[in-house]
Amino acid sequence: MDWVKKIAELKKQKNAIIMAHYYQDAAIQDIADYVGDSLALAQWAAKTDADIIVMCGVHFMGETAKILSPSKKVLVPDTAAGCSLADSCPADEFASFIKQHPNHTVISYVNTTAAVKALTDVVVTSTNAKAIVDTFPKDAPIIFGPDYNLGNYINSVTGRKMVLWKGACHVHEKFTVDRIKALKEQYPDAPVLTHPECKQEIVEISDYVGSTQAILNYAGKSDASTFIVVTESGILHKMRQAYPTKTFIAPSVEGAACNECNYMRLNTLEKVYNCLLNESPQIIIDEELAQKAVKPIVRMLDLSK
Ligand code: 13P
Ligand code: SF4
Repeated sequence: MDWVKKIAELKKQKNAIIMAHYYQDAAIQDIADYVGDSLALAQWAAKTDADIIVMCGVHFMGETAKILSPSKKVLVPDTAAGCSLADSCPADEFASFIKQHPNHTVISYVNTTAAVKALTDVVVTSTNAKAIVDTFPKDAPIIFGPDYNLGNYINSVTGRKMVLWKGACHVHEKFTVDRIKALKEQYPDAPVLTHPECKQEIVEISDYVGSTQAILNYAGKSDASTFIVVTESGILHKMRQAYPTKTFIAPSVEGAACNECNYMRLNTLEKVYNCLLNESPQIIIDEELAQKAVKPIVRMLDLSK
């Protein structure tokens, strides 16, 4: 089966668009109409005039698209594509945490369920987190969740004392200082570009810390020719396409030559084709929940213009 051709036909016939996160397999990135980071996917989902959005990423990205575009059909290739970070923050436990810290503004990373977003004042992604936190007074009491490493990084660069939920991404937590240091020795001129979901000890030995989009932009502007890229290795596909004369190195992690998110990689061309053909699985969100969850997401989009 020529999946690429079949998907293109179905897409046209159904006025559908395909969105893909940078952590998708190269084959999926290459058939997508939009490839971007979490922020860009939310922004595109909010303004598309397609009838169907196929979200190739993980479940919370499909939910965010549906919340922002409730009249569209939002399809995901595999409903098992979850997120360990979103799973590390159950809504009932987060609600108790909020109760324990009265009068705090609640800032949540987009990697959360709709139920957690409904408890949130403003959503952020790794691209805009620092800028949005900076819109609040320096001494404002803030709860930041669920990614401890991202919150800890923002606290360290802003001198804030946000109260942090202790959640983590199992992919970014896998990188080790020993491996990054060994690569630095091997490629002494290569800057280390790190996603803020990584542990503090990794951030401390990095030359640049930023979201997937920020890392991509940094590599384009930098005079260096080789880069050590400390995030999910899917981003290297886009980096190599965008800057073919530069070299990008993905650190190995225990048991694997590069670090892939097993959830992100559940999506395949065959599943994209099938979900478009059957218009299933579809993201369905309770209307009352969606009405609560949309507010902090729209607030984020307004603050990111
Ligand atoms: P960004 O897309 O904001 O860089 O976040 C990375 C991520 O872990 C998405 O799941
Ligand atoms: Fe979640 Fe981490 Fe996978 Fe991103 S890379 S989807 S944060 S588990």
